[in-house]
Amino acid sequence: MHYAYVPYSSYPVGAAALVDDGRIVSGANIENASFGVTLCAECSLVSDLFMSGGGRLVAFDCVDGAGQTLVPCGRCRQLLFEHGGNDLMLNMPSGKVPMSVVLPEAFGPDHLSSDAQGAGPAKH
Ligand code: THU
Repeated sequence: MHYAYVPYSSYPVGAAALVDDGRIVSGANIENASFGVTLCAECSLVSDLFMSGGGRLVAFDCVDGAGQTLVPCGRCRQLLFEHGGNDLMLNMPSGKVPMSVVLPEAFGPDHLSSDAQGAGPAKH
């Protein structure tokens, strides 16, 4: 969160994640005068993931300016799901919770596979 650019909210966020090859990737929120264009900390974390070699996210945490764990916003849950799937373990204020609980029945890459195209309602 020390790298955050937050002139509008004054609410710095830092995010860090363990990658499946042992790397740690991180990010901070980067705000914009056009508020809706703001990048959450998770966005820059995903950029770090790709720019440092890719891989799958295994464990994740994000914190506020005081270092307190906070919940990732809804958009960022979707963002993280793409790169960690249901088994990504998130540190939440309530404890460690898998993505399958944090974002149940998530839409993801599997839904875009050719087998799924026009196949009707999802099977559970
Ligand atoms: N923010 C994040 O960086 N990640 C989240 O998951 C929640 C919100 C940022 C966006 C904005 O810069 C500030 O927190 C206040 O909403």
